[in-house]
Amino acid sequence: MTQSKKRTVLLGIGVVVLVAAGLLGASPNVRSEVASLRACFTLARSGFRNVAEEPKDRFHGKVQEFTARCRAAPEIDAHRQTPWVDWSSYWGTAGDDSRSNFRFLGRLSRQQRGIDGALLDLEYQRIELLKFNLFDNHTFPEYVQGRDAVPGRSLKVWPAMRLPAEHPAFADVGGDGAQLCTGELIRARTLTGICNDIRNPLMGSANTLFARNVAFDETFPHLSENELVRNRHGDRIGLHSPDPQVISRALFTRQQSDPSRCNEGQGGPADASCDYVKAPFFNVIAAYWIQFMTHDWFSHMEEGQNAQEMMPVGCATRREGGMQRPLTEAEISALGCRPGDRIDQAILADSEPAPTFRQNGETHLSRAPRTTRNTNTAWWDASQLYGYSEPSARRVKRDPADPAKLHMVQLPGRTGEGDSQGYLPLLADGDPMHPAWSGQEAVAFPDNWSIGLSFLHNVFAREHNLIVDEFRRRAAADSDADSGLRDPASPEAVIRNRDVTPEQLYQIARLVVAAEIAKIHTIEWTTQLLYDEVLYLGMNANWFGLFREDNRVSRALERVTIDRLGRSFREADQTLWYSVFASGSGIFGLGSRRYQDDGGLLTFRNSGEDIWDVSNPDHVNGGVNHFGSPFNFPEEFVTVYRLHPLVPDLLEFRDAAEPNAVQRAVPVISTFRARATPAMHEGGLANWALTLGRQRLGALTLQNHPLFLQNLPMPRLASETGTLDVAALDILRDRERGVPRFNEFRRQYGLRTLTSFDDFIDQRLPEDDPERIRQQEFVTAMREVYGQHTCDDSKTITAVQELNDKLVTDCLGHPDGTMVDNVEDIDVVVGWLAESTRPHGFAISETQFTVFILNASRRLFSDRFFTSSFRPEFYSHLGVEWVNNNGPEGRVMESGRPNGHEEEMLPMKRVLLRTVPQLADELAGVVNAFDPWARDRGEYYSLQWKPRPGAESDPAFRNEGR
Ligand code: HEM
Repeated sequence: MTQSKKRTVLLGIGVVVLVAAGLLGASPNVRSEVASLRACFTLARSGFRNVAEEPKDRFHGKVQEFTARCRAAPEIDAHRQTPWVDWSSYWGTAGDDSRSNFRFLGRLSRQQRGIDGALLDLEYQRIELLKFNLFDNHTFPEYVQGRDAVPGRSLKVWPAMRLPAEHPAFADVGGDGAQLCTGELIRARTLTGICNDIRNPLMGSANTLFARNVAFDETFPHLSENELVRNRHGDRIGLHSPDPQVISRALFTRQQSDPSRCNEGQGGPADASCDYVKAPFFNVIAAYWIQFMTHDWFSHMEEGQNAQEMMPVGCATRREGGMQRPLTEAEISALGCRPGDRIDQAILADSEPAPTFRQNGETHLSRAPRTTRNTNTAWWDASQLYGYSEPSARRVKRDPADPAKLHMVQLPGRTGEGDSQGYLPLLADGDPMHPAWSGQEAVAFPDNWSIGLSFLHNVFAREHNLIVDEFRRRAAADSDADSGLRDPASPEAVIRNRDVTPEQLYQIARLVVAAEIAKIHTIEWTTQLLYDEVLYLGMNANWFGLFREDNRVSRALERVTIDRLGRSFREADQTLWYSVFASGSGIFGLGSRRYQDDGGLLTFRNSGEDIWDVSNPDHVNGGVNHFGSPFNFPEEFVTVYRLHPLVPDLLEFRDAAEPNAVQRAVPVISTFRARATPAMHEGGLANWALTLGRQRLGALTLQNHPLFLQNLPMPRLASETGTLDVAALDILRDRERGVPRFNEFRRQYGLRTLTSFDDFIDQRLPEDDPERIRQQEFVTAMREVYGQHTCDDSKTITAVQELNDKLVTDCLGHPDGTMVDNVEDIDVVVGWLAESTRPHGFAISETQFTVFILNASRRLFSDRFFTSSFRPEFYSHLGVEWVNNNGPEGRVMESGRPNGHEEEMLPMKRVLLRTVPQLADELAGVVNAFDPWARDRGEYYSLQWKPRPGAESDPAFRNEGR
């Protein structure tokens, strides 16, 4: 009997024994398992749920009763009544107590049923997100109408993604004819991001339009351009209403037990202290990491500048009796806001009315009513380090002694181990520079410079140089060896180690650094941001595939994905099945191997010989899938990255010689812009690493914004106050860029919505729990700011969701004419910060997470250098090895079994060990570089704030609360 047959028989016996035990009146545990297995049987008989045909039939992350009972304890029934996704209540998806002590039946055990069920739910969400949430401002009519008998969702090339005639590379890519990037344009990542997709040269390049994830009709709700929007919001919302600074002060301000010691985050007193709500399982490096990432992915500003016209930032009105009325002096003073704050308006690309087109008798907008440009490259190409435009590239300094390297300078007095790797030089006269950046380190993306950005830029500049060093070391040892690199113009010619030019080596190092950053983000940062088993497995599957090792099954899945589904013109193949199969094989490296077709697509009988060929455009580009819509980030993605509460007001500075002691409190404001650079030089990379590594970041919740950001000096703004409330600006910018308000935002993403502010309260908490009482206070504050109105049940407010079998109305399920909360008006940032019902270990809310499911996957799916062009021909042999093994020394395993897994030492930890070697002792006890370094990780996904052995004297563990 084969192994699998044996297993099936054993399982069968197990089930029979359980059922018999249940019938014979065994323990309640056994009886409940019998009931649960019966539910599983019903689930198995009912088969897979269909992917929705219409948005109103979407999955919503809510399952049938029998599915819930198969995957979770009966207590899930209460949770199923809430708007929040069901999987967070499945067995095994939270901490140790979510693991049932009933651990029989192997793959069919409760634990596995819970986790596999959650992964399946997430895959359904991703499929429907790919199907319903792509709205590209350049190409939408083709997406709806298709072209030349090819359905829109199967299109792979778009006229709008051609280089225009005035582009310097126009002739090189084919001019007026069919455009195809070749030769030098495809060998590495280009400065402005052109030619990543070799058939769509413009895609993802700097200054293309941000996309949308929501229907164009639902963007810019304050313009009230259609009936649904008018029904939804009445005349209650506008660019400045509800008032952004009132929202900031009432809902975002961090509460202080001793305000004088915090001094609005500005520091001053010797015993300075600012309270903030801390996330126990995520450190301050993680906060700055995500700022570092956003500077790679997107920006709305041009060289640190918005549009010329200025606008107020609020502190003018409040809502009372259904109306906006001016604030009194007393109210202004009680709130602490500033009517004199001004900010420059957002830059718009298109603001004239959007053209329309007709399809199947319906009129559609061909783009959003207003559009904006992403002035950065949308690719995950480390452009914050290497540049995305001519001026930004001029700021990046090469080593005069070796132009393959980045210039790093020695600092007098910094002689610690690792300091010989140097620090970034400063911006010099003649460098393109906004005056606000003067005195900072010279980097491509210098805006809103901070100590954390200084840290990460220095670390990855060092990493770049270490890659160059290692290549040179190997080249010196064997200069005739094949580097792996090829020139697509003469693919047959072997490029030996000694033939590789400094420029080529620089570009190799850039490719490697970018891929390393993507890997760190996917399998290390995100698995700590979403700290549970489901997301550990899900994120690792995104990168490596479900089978991790390169084996025949994963190769067969890759082959089906690329050869069959990727080329199919059936819409379901291109979206549904492509996404499912890619989870099996992993997205990273998809299409980077090709095999002779032996006719045995599903028989795993491929010859094993890889025939991938750099001169074949279908091989170079064949691993990408844009799902019918060219890749760029949507505005909705920017919104969910407005993560300012992550930043504390004060940093607890430490010295690597004495890691358990906090030396002093350093206000973040004194490490901002040009002040970051001397702070870095005085403190040194190792001490700052320890400082940021040990401290917890701020939790993403209401009333937890840094006070210094509400009072940020902005000398560049010629306003009365010269100061800005950045938290208020977060609200205002979203409105300027037309992000729908929270409830419709969730509907558009296929999530259930709220019918009152009370839905924000986590029903799982006991009534007298202090956290629940805090949430109740938030609800009261929201009601005060956003108000209530008498509802009209005849007004339909959305086209994409039903409630009680009819499209949702103004009454949100409450009786006609009753007073309802203005829950439809909540700004998205307020909404996701108020979400307290989250899956275990989620530092972000489920709404933000849903936006990531779609866009984080697409960021990999669309990038040739992460899929079919992850090849030695571009990366070199060393480069491929470095990315796969997290460095040059081969695979290194982590000790122990963190959370029950055999684990490779994670890539950020390896980067830190190389670039800041003084940290070796400290990092020995660290598994994930983004988990507070002195925390005991305990058993299965513990969130406890407890010192690990050796860190007991660290004062951070003394004040447990805030
Ligand atoms: C020292 C810390 C930080 C400071 C001083 C700071 C400051 C600012 C300011 C002034 C803006 C407004 C730009 C404008 O629209 O005119 C902004 C935007 C933004 N910040 Fe921060 N920030 C900090 C940290 C972070 C962190 C940790 C994140 C996490 C992701 C973040 C994410 C964003 C995003 C997404 C925007 C919008 C960017 C855009 O519109 O393209 N910031 N920040």
